[in-house]
Amino acid sequence: MLTDRFNRIHDYLRISLTDKCNLRCSYCNPPDLLKDHFKGLRRMTAQEIDQIVCAFVKEGVKKIRLTGGEPLVRKDTPEIIERLSKYPVEVAISTNGVLLHNYVDIFTKAGIRSINVSLDSLKREKFFAITKRDEFNLILNNIYLLLQNDFRVKINVVVMKGVNDDELNDFVSLTKHLPLHVRFIEFMPFSGNAWSREKVFSYQEMLHHISTKYQFMKLEDSQHDTDKKYLVPGHEGAFAIISTMTQPFCGRCNRMRLTADGKMKNCLFSKTEMDILSALRKGNDIIPLIKQCVWMKEEKLGGQIKTMYGELDTTKINNRSMIHIGG
Ligand code: GTP
Ligand code: 5AD
Ligand code: SF4
Repeated sequence: MLTDRFNRIHDYLRISLTDKCNLRCSYCNPPDLLKDHFKGLRRMTAQEIDQIVCAFVKEGVKKIRLTGGEPLVRKDTPEIIERLSKYPVEVAISTNGVLLHNYVDIFTKAGIRSINVSLDSLKREKFFAITKRDEFNLILNNIYLLLQNDFRVKINVVVMKGVNDDELNDFVSLTKHLPLHVRFIEFMPFSGNAWSREKVFSYQEMLHHISTKYQFMKLEDSQHDTDKKYLVPGHEGAFAIISTMTQPFCGRCNRMRLTADGKMKNCLFSKTEMDILSALRKGNDIIPLIKQCVWMKEEKLGGQIKTMYGELDTTKINNRSMIHIGG
């Protein structure tokens, strides 16, 4: 069991398969971001991912989420999924949805039932403005395709003031006849993503905005959920808010991360990383390193965000860009 100094058990591993992506979202992978892709040997191979996962599973990991960049752009992602399907863990995926139509059978065969899809606007032009790619219709069709095939689908919406904060109720109205779980995410600061406190649309502001059109009730959240869930009575789906900036959920965190170049991060905002891949390649036992990395985890937000977001000085945050972490 992987336990940290604050008695938090860590049984959820997020693996970034690649730092490449087929979209250019302003808050994650802006076109002007300096790129130094993990090519060739810098990136974990499918076999190395398998070996590292084996060690994590021995230490009690129960859930693995594949992220990116965009995890489905990697050529050997089907092989990785097949390798992971032999472990007694729940495998889940966070994707931008562009390539989902190629993966329905692969997911089904591997027993993957739950997919999180990013979609920040329901308007084609605005989607293009945010992502710099004209893939809105394809993604929406792929979301319908998943629902037709009985996948559980969550939609992740990063809400940015002045960009898409006027669309919350359009997303909520989607949940009326579709069993979708829409999650509104407070905009978080990462290297190179032009975050500013003025662009944060807070949890309370979101609830207030939705209350101008809908009556809703609070649903119960599970122990390790990042999102706070709500239901509009009569709707098939639900909505939720991920409030990292105003009400972080670090006290019940069970998450660890592995970047595509094989570095372990004990928090989304961790400054330090543990080089698991190099140790594996040297033939060393990686389990003591994994344990040490978990043990060193800070109590809250990587120890880097100590003030309310209004006072945050992002120049003091030392982290990778989101495209390299995977969310
Ligand atoms: P579920 O397993 O379905 O609950 O998904 P998830 O919320 O763990 O994963 P997803 O990849 O869909 O991420 C949704 C949002 O939650 C993204 O904005 C992530 O950056 C954020 N998130 C995920 N894990 C963490 C975390 O450990 N800390 C913080 N602060 N945010 C996180
Ligand atoms: N703030 C909040 N969420 C973000 N994501 C990416 N960058 C940010 C950010 N700066 C989300 C994406 C994706 C998930 C994995 O992380 O929308 O759904
Ligand atoms: Fe690509 Fe996802 Fe980042 Fe957008 S948020 S650039 S889809 S990895």
